[in-house]
Amino acid sequence: MCGIVGMIGNRPVARLLVESLKRLEYRGYDSAGVATLVDGALHRRRAAGKLFALETALEAKPLAGDIGIGHTRWATHGPPTVENAHPHVAGKVSVVHNGIIENHQEIRTELVALEIHPESQTDTEIVALLLNKLLDDGATPEEAMRQVMARVTGAFAFVVMMEDCPSTLFAARRASPLAIGYGEGEMFVGSDALALAPLTRRISYLDDGDWAIISADGARVFDHHGAEVERAVTLSAVSGALIGKGNYRHFMEKEMHEHPEAAGYTLFHYNHPSNGGLAMPEMPFDPATLPKLTIVAAGTSSFSGMIAKYWFESLARLPVEVDIASEFRYRDTVLPEGGAAMFISQSGESLDTLMALRHAREQDQHILAIVNVPESTMAREADVVLPTLAGPEIGVASTKAFTGQLVALACLALDWAEKRGTVTPERSAGILKALEHLPVQMAEVLEREHDLVPICHDLSHARDVLYLGRGTSFPIALEGALKLKEISYIHAEGYAAGEMKHGPIALIEDGVPVVIVAPSDQWFEKAISNVTEAMARGGRVVLLSDSDGIARMGNDATWAFEMPDCDPFVAPILYALPVQLISYHTALEKGTDVDQPRNLAKSVTVE
Ligand code: G6P
Repeated sequence: MCGIVGMIGNRPVARLLVESLKRLEYRGYDSAGVATLVDGALHRRRAAGKLFALETALEAKPLAGDIGIGHTRWATHGPPTVENAHPHVAGKVSVVHNGIIENHQEIRTELVALEIHPESQTDTEIVALLLNKLLDDGATPEEAMRQVMARVTGAFAFVVMMEDCPSTLFAARRASPLAIGYGEGEMFVGSDALALAPLTRRISYLDDGDWAIISADGARVFDHHGAEVERAVTLSAVSGALIGKGNYRHFMEKEMHEHPEAAGYTLFHYNHPSNGGLAMPEMPFDPATLPKLTIVAAGTSSFSGMIAKYWFESLARLPVEVDIASEFRYRDTVLPEGGAAMFISQSGESLDTLMALRHAREQDQHILAIVNVPESTMAREADVVLPTLAGPEIGVASTKAFTGQLVALACLALDWAEKRGTVTPERSAGILKALEHLPVQMAEVLEREHDLVPICHDLSHARDVLYLGRGTSFPIALEGALKLKEISYIHAEGYAAGEMKHGPIALIEDGVPVVIVAPSDQWFEKAISNVTEAMARGGRVVLLSDSDGIARMGNDATWAFEMPDCDPFVAPILYALPVQLISYHTALEKGTDVDQPRNLAKSVTVE
């Protein structure tokens, strides 16, 4: 998604803006630009493609100026061309924007009727034109901002710079995130704390509907009624030092190698040895009498929810519904009185998930959020936050945050099972032990990563790949297929193994790879009989199982990758690793842009 930065102070900002944009690269983008004010006049540089192209443009024609705004654009309205890249300029006004202005077409028509013609196809330029028109009509900058905020609809964040105000930036937010950073004699604004990490850790977050006037020595914030308000300044936990690839080729590779820490830290957070058992956050309801849990998420996070459904149902005997956010938020859901709704999100900012959270709030559900970014909007809006301690995740395709989510969910399912009296102390202790052992077993899988390389070489020639699994391995099959599609651009389908004969089996012909996720669990025999059906039709089977499973399968699979033996309860957490690693090594074979796959964004803050 688009990334926004703005700076105002007493030193040249162009280079700093580009450095901040680099820290927002992980969000996904396809063009970029910066603008500064020099002696009260707007200047900008824009480029299609990666930031390297913008840096080249800046080298050719450097930009001076102690005040500026910058942007990485993920195209929504209009292709990723230079003309559509931000900042957009209209007369004396320059704007960078993230999100979508829903009524831009209506405003565009009105402006055109006044002979004001946009140069780009973007919704953003409409904001610049509208502001400029209001200024031309005699409005003060503050009045113009107020009027624009009242006029535009949608989910957005934007930062504005005006020639008439060489010492001021204006920022506004509705639904899309925006953080203000406080420095010494300089001020910053950005899409998240990560963008501002090396510049300052003193951050305040604008609330929904807020807009702000930012000068070098502070910010004045106004709420959606126009009343001046105080927004707390907190010390961000994000440190600039954390963000780098180290010795890894890609952030995704680095982040997969951080699975053991993500799982370990998250478990330690909920099951600290000094507590003598699980210590989950206090709930505003009694889990023993909870009628139903609704879990909502998007992308990889939704697969965590699907796995958790098996856990809450089998262990805590709790009715669970899982839904993807983009469907849930518009459905006429029937949610029980006193029910709980849980939202799972790495970023805590995915727009559909955030809107689904608000939809559930309107229906009086208790709101829980599992997030990896503690300062995120979802974290701030939830009744109870269960953090994952995976650390900043930069690769667009989510990896370690997924295992962090699963560990947090496993702890919660276990805690509620204890409170509901549906688990024996022995089983509970067994699951905790299995969770504690996970980081070591994850490290074992990572050590044998290279055994997957020949398999991936094979897969990289495939046109279609089928992923199958039963029970908690089914969402892992979905995760494997999603990841392969996302970063290697190979068509893949994830299916519940039992459903294979209701459709996907038609895809299987000589040489089609079928990846089967099959730990030795209660579903193993049935999963294997589905595999034999695939093999009978010429499918090339990649079996992911433990030593016992591989022995039971005999030599029938084309490839087998041996996983450590584990308690079936935690198997999906461990088996997330080989499916993610397979997608990574297949993408390496294909030479794709692993960390920023085409068209994808890290945090989807538009509908
Ligand atoms: C995007 C990312 C995925 C992620 C999904 C949900 O599609 O590319 O990797 O799983 O958003 O993001 P969230 O931050 O809500 O978990």
